[in-house]
Amino acid sequence: MKIAILSANPNLYSTKRLVEAGEKKGHEMLVINHTKCDLVIEKKKPGIIYKGEEITNVDAVIPRIGASVTFYGTAVVRQFEMMKVFSATESQALVRSRDKLRSLQILSRAGLGLPKTVFSNYSKEVSGIIDKVGGAPLVIKLLEGTQGLGVVLADNRNSAESILEAFNGLQARVIVQEFIKEAKGADIRAFVVDGVVVGAMKRQGKEGEFRSNLHRGGTANIIELTDEEENTAIKAAKSLGLGIAGVDMLQSARGPLILEVNSSPGLEGIENATGTDIAGQIIKYLERNVE
Ligand SMILES: Nc1ncnc2c1ncn2[C@@H]1O[C@H](COP(=O)(O)OP(=O)(O)OP(=O)(O)O)[C@@H](O)[C@H]1O
Ligand SMILES: [Mg+2]
Repeated sequence: MKIAILSANPNLYSTKRLVEAGEKKGHEMLVINHTKCDLVIEKKKPGIIYKGEEITNVDAVIPRIGASVTFYGTAVVRQFEMMKVFSATESQALVRSRDKLRSLQILSRAGLGLPKTVFSNYSKEVSGIIDKVGGAPLVIKLLEGTQGLGVVLADNRNSAESILEAFNGLQARVIVQEFIKEAKGADIRAFVVDGVVVGAMKRQGKEGEFRSNLHRGGTANIIELTDEEENTAIKAAKSLGLGIAGVDMLQSARGPLILEVNSSPGLEGIENATGTDIAGQIIKYLERNVE
């Protein structure tokens, strides 16, 4: 097969590992920077020009699209789909997963556990919002935040109110969420490929930190999921239509609660924590779908 990885950076761990895993199985691997592709659209003849040349004979693509280039990246994935190329992540699913509000709505409809969450459009009614999630302590998150930045724990009602007012003043859109104390500063990441959990890790925040992000000094270890956690992860990926998904969950007294489903989950943390060849699993998934 000729497999293209859509990645803006060939030196990233995930990109390199996918190239390595594909080559090991005898495939021709290329890395295409989706931000540098030109899309040619004419009657029934979709094409993609990259570095001055038309891309041909690609059998499958693995999108690794950064959140900041979702719009153009998904257009490139869609163009490949129009050229009858199999995509490890469907363009539709990619768009859906990048919209946090929409994703949580879909997961809730699928009957999956979620921390109680309120989205609000710069509401001045901060008090009512605080009541809706059961009062303080509560977690406030910037809608555009990532890697734990913009995730704040408000211990009491007063601080929750002033933080919400400050964000409103800055016209920053936020979500307000009940604080899951039992998670004890940890979360779990289940890596799902083609409807199967191929690896799972538990990330623990450093001492005194409720955020478990590795970028904030957290540590990751392999974990055996309960049946309920495994089923939740699989169902989450399925309901969002994702062939590859990183499902983040909190362990709570009422079972697993989904924080987020990532459609371009990184390989470094999970491969290191589990000692598993996840990149190889992704290549196998493509092989099953392209004859
Ligand atoms: N409602 C909550 N209750 C307890 N802990 C939480 C809650 N929400 C988040 N956390 C902790 O904070 C961490 C960061 O939160 P979250 O994953 O939502 O934001 P992020 O990592 O900045 O964004 P993203 O995962 O979308 O890139 C989580 O991994 C988890 O450890
Ligand atoms: Mg996170």
